[in-house]
Amino acid sequence: MNILGIETSCDETAAAIVSGGKNVRSSVVASQTAVHHPYGGVVPELASRKHLEAISQVLSEAIERSGIPENRLDAVAVTQGPGLIGALLVGFSFAKAYAYALNIPCVGVNHLEGHIHSVFLETDAPEFPFVSLLVSGGHTGIYHVTSHTTCELMGQTRDDAAGEAFDKVAKMLGLGYPGGVAIEEISRKGDPFHIQFPRPYLDKADSDFSFSGLKSAVRRYIETHDFKENIPDIVAGFQEAVADVLTFKLIQAALSRQCSRIAVVGGVAANSRLREKVRGAAAEKGLSVFIPSPAFCGDNAAMIAATGYHYLRAGHVCSLTDDVYSKVMAK
Ligand code: KG4
Ligand code: ZN
Repeated sequence: MNILGIETSCDETAAAIVSGGKNVRSSVVASQTAVHHPYGGVVPELASRKHLEAISQVLSEAIERSGIPENRLDAVAVTQGPGLIGALLVGFSFAKAYAYALNIPCVGVNHLEGHIHSVFLETDAPEFPFVSLLVSGGHTGIYHVTSHTTCELMGQTRDDAAGEAFDKVAKMLGLGYPGGVAIEEISRKGDPFHIQFPRPYLDKADSDFSFSGLKSAVRRYIETHDFKENIPDIVAGFQEAVADVLTFKLIQAALSRQCSRIAVVGGVAANSRLREKVRGAAAEKGLSVFIPSPAFCGDNAAMIAATGYHYLRAGHVCSLTDDVYSKVMAK
């Protein structure tokens, strides 16, 4: 079954074709980061306009690269939420109209479940159940995943998402948007142990997170030091603290469920320090680790097509009157 995936929830216009819920035939991502870079964050109105400009071209490219003609597409899967309403509307309206014109079903996909499914795009995919750490710009949470259509939220951030913390710290230091990539790059030149930033919530047995205190600690450091000379050590220390907390919480969550498989997904999962720490800690406890290749960590449409495949099989199809949603929806 060939599924066309469409993703426009934030600042990436993406289309992909995935067969059988796992074989990626094409995946095209048009990033708007250059547009938002001067503002230090995503400007929603600009995002919607850029999606509108890019979507037809991105879709044509995905079809062309896949070698699968339109008449061999079996369904369209599209991100329905959560995300920026205006941005979501572009992809969702386009997908509904496109599916209607081809007379094939359209499936609305939850973006977070999309990220969780990104591990199935790799050849070495986990069996159920597994515990997945989702770390993106909009969300940070730990999920106990028991099937393609069922997962339980074990805990989540009480304030900023991990990616948001990376972006805000980068903004404070004038490193631009998106901050994660810049921080990872500059950290390579720094000493992660020179400045000890707090590791919030490490003493708690639950799977909740909080990153605003850590962000404030970085702000205080900047305000009280001649920081310009010291940026590599600051960002390396910050990255180390985030990676420590995420790794500890993920391992703790897996052990609490006696679950031997763990996954890390979402934009921050591309961070090599985090990947390294999770792999090291998992090896100590004998857990298997599943982290998608960096191309499938950030927003992409292949993960949406993969999720849509399983929802379609479970009978979920959306109608022309269905709408997008901005906030996380309880299923
Ligand atoms: O999953 P994603 O592409 O979009 C959302 O659903 O939010 O995640 C984007 C987030 C941004 O906050 C970005 O700074 C962060 O992922 N990110 C990283 C890295 N690459 C992207 N954070 C840390 N290290 C990275 N290498
Ligand atoms: Zn995302």
